[in-house]
Amino acid sequence: MYQDLLDKKKKIAVVGLGYVGLPIALEFAKYFSVIGFDINEARIALMRKGIDPSKELESKDFQGRDIEFTADLETLRHAHFFVVAVPTDINEHKIPNLTPLLSASKSVGKVIKKGDYVVFESTVYPGCTEEDCLPIIEEESGLVRNTDFKFGYSPERINPGDKERTLTTILKIVAGGDSESAEEINKIYSHIITAGTHLASSVKVAEAAKVIENTQRDLNISLMNELAIIFDKMGIDTQEVLKAAGTKWNFLKFYPGLVGGHCIGVDPYYLMHKSKQLGYDPQVIAAGRRINDFMPAFIVKKMVQMLIQKGKNPSECKVLVKGITFKENVSDIRNSKVATLVKELMDYSINVHIVDSHASPNEVAHEYKLSLIDDISNDYDAVVVAVSHNDYKKYNAEYFSSIMVDEGILIDLKSIYSLKQLEGKNFDYWKL
Ligand SMILES: NC(=O)c1ccc[n+]([C@@H]2O[C@H](COP(=O)([O-])OP(=O)(O)OC[C@H]3O[C@@H](n4cnc5c(N)ncnc54)[C@H](O)[C@@H]3O)[C@@H](O)[C@H]2O)c1
Repeated sequence: MYQDLLDKKKKIAVVGLGYVGLPIALEFAKYFSVIGFDINEARIALMRKGIDPSKELESKDFQGRDIEFTADLETLRHAHFFVVAVPTDINEHKIPNLTPLLSASKSVGKVIKKGDYVVFESTVYPGCTEEDCLPIIEEESGLVRNTDFKFGYSPERINPGDKERTLTTILKIVAGGDSESAEEINKIYSHIITAGTHLASSVKVAEAAKVIENTQRDLNISLMNELAIIFDKMGIDTQEVLKAAGTKWNFLKFYPGLVGGHCIGVDPYYLMHKSKQLGYDPQVIAAGRRINDFMPAFIVKKMVQMLIQKGKNPSECKVLVKGITFKENVSDIRNSKVATLVKELMDYSINVHIVDSHASPNEVAHEYKLSLIDDISNDYDAVVVAVSHNDYKKYNAEYFSSIMVDEGILIDLKSIYSLKQLEGKNFDYWKL
């Protein structure tokens, strides 16, 4: 397969061109002939014009690439090596939503031929590729895994917004359904990933590795969040404690904060779901999730207490929230815990203004029924800096004083501001 792809006798198809799929498709298209397939025609139309709908890539990243963008299944038929990178989110009951993945498997099943390969990149629970996706491909195609077509799994570690660690400079895990496919898939990915690959011993191992990377991060952050709650009660500065403890060689550097987005706050539910199916109800992972999900309510309670202690009636207060994306310097608002925080503030009848030049006002309105404002006022009772966008880092005491009433409150959720920046402040300052 590798040699045929390199000689352009065969094509690679990437199914699902989002934050993960588009960069990988364009990278493959530097060396191979690629079909970029997505069911969203509006996104395909933009990509044809060299525009990344996820706003991560620039038009120069599309130039000189051998790629055809399509929403047409018939065009997909011309490919022989399929990479599936569709979303794997959770529903309102925090249960894995496999609909996009199973539907993409069906599409691949319709066009896959004898001798072809399919590699899944979407984050799933161990067993999902072999137990949920492959049976659909087999049923649709009438072909048998390993005998008629080959399969593999290669989880993505891309970190949107990170300009240093990019697709090719992050070591990638690959796995195949048998030794032949493992070797071929490894060669194909090694061709584009300069950081190299790690060949996992099985597809299930590769699936499990991905899901625990984010579960571990979720849990470590949840410990920091719990410590922040405890230290707040003790009147101790959590950041100072972490700085001191961090001087020990084996103390891990994690920080408290809101855990949103489509990975860290979602992937543990995939692992928990499969574990429960197998008869074990995870305790530690679930506790971490609970604490991280509780943080917006904790922060809002703290803020309301501070307002009341200043003799203010929350329902007469005006609060500015800066940043609604799920993390810094990205436009992605999926599963934003800042939106949860805003709704908690609104539950206290607080008048909330939100700004974020990185986020699309239409997407925020559609997803959360919240409006972003253009012009901020100068009479906020409190300002919450919720996301550490680069352009927020330059603010100082003078700036915050200019947008707040006298004796306002600055809530710095990412501990962005140093004492020096806030020198001479005439407002209260609270951070996690
Ligand atoms: N975004 C990240 O930072 C990141 C990092 C590592 C892993 N992942 C994982 O990668 C996978 C993809 O995530 P993403 O962030 O790229 O998602 P995304 O929402 O940005 O993009 C998914 C794309 O798939 C398309 N799509 C949906 N159903 C389809 C179907 N049946 N057929 C064809 N296309 C379809 C959508 O139109 C969209 O363009 C998920 O499993 C995610 O957990 C994401």
